[in-house]
Amino acid sequence: MLKRVVNALELVALLAAATFVVLLFAYRPTAKPAAPAAAAANPLVVGEQVFAANCSTCHGAHGEGAVGPRLSGGAVVRRYPNPADQIAVVEYTRTGLNRG
Ligand code: HEC
Repeated sequence: MLKRVVNALELVALLAAATFVVLLFAYRPTAKPAAPAAAAANPLVVGEQVFAANCSTCHGAHGEGAVGPRLSGGAVVRRYPNPADQIAVVEYTRTGLNRG
């Protein structure tokens, strides 16, 4: 009787060990999401966050326009082909207020 129980336990242990080994081979670690620091270092990601937090209420989540004029679809690039002018508009407004 005792020998039967031991045999059953051995069988369970053997199956568990075999399962463990199979799972070890089957295990594929999933790619970790990018670290927040790496995302913050990407200016496009930072810009997207700044826009979502500060501009989207008036210019739309995708720059499609709302209270403020449309910015996407090349609207700003056509109006201000020089990137320095785009920066100046955002920094000082179109009329150059606060420039100084
Ligand atoms: C409170 C609403 C509001 C917020 C917030 C806002 N804007 Fe504007 N924005 C406007 C309005 C209104 C105009 C049009 C001003 C005018 O006609 O003189 C404008 C104009 C602009 C223009 C010039 C567009 C053009 O065709 O001349 C740019 C570029 C711009 N905003 C970018 C931004 C950015 C970038 C942010 C966030 C950092 C932002 N705006 C936040 C309302 C807003």
